[in-house]
Amino acid sequence: MLVRLMYASRAAEPVKPETVNAILKKSTVNNPSAGVTGVLCFSGDIFMQVLEGGRSQVSALYNRIAQDPRHRDVVLLSYDEIDERSFAGWSMGQVNMGRLNPAMLLKYSETAVLNPYAVSGKVSQALFDELVATASVVCLG
Ligand SMILES: Cc1cc2nc3c(=O)[nH]c(=O)nc-3n(C[C@H](O)[C@H](O)[C@H](O)COP(=O)(O)O)c2cc1C
Repeated sequence: MLVRLMYASRAAEPVKPETVNAILKKSTVNNPSAGVTGVLCFSGDIFMQVLEGGRSQVSALYNRIAQDPRHRDVVLLSYDEIDERSFAGWSMGQVNMGRLNPAMLLKYSETAVLNPYAVSGKVSQALFDELVATASVVCLG
């Protein structure tokens, strides 16, 4: 019984690379034992993350992440039961935002700024899939 959950949040404070690295490091330690895979995307002060795995494991992790003081305004963008994972190879990949194409953001939103709060969950999902396909995913584990 696999599910995929996507959420967005705003960083509580300006995010340093060390903060993102610490989150990714923690994810690569914790996620494999829970059988959770996914991708974390960070741009400006916005986080977007996809978590996939068993329903109870994904649910427990999402609840834990939502309490994390390093971000706020955690909003659930989509939740689906899935037949297969999209990110089976990544305990937590990171989308390399340096390679983001503004035209791709404009394709899905009013401005070339990543703002999942301004679009539907369906649009966020389409944008995220394209981000992952076109920006490189940095894999830490
Ligand atoms: C944006 C964001 C994404 C996170 N993603 C994960 C994750 O995928 N896996 C994880 O274990 N912790 C993640 N965390 C950290 C958790 O909120 C929490 O600090 C951590 O799971 C605690 O683990 P510990 O009990 O082993 O110290 C994330 C935190 C933030 C702010």
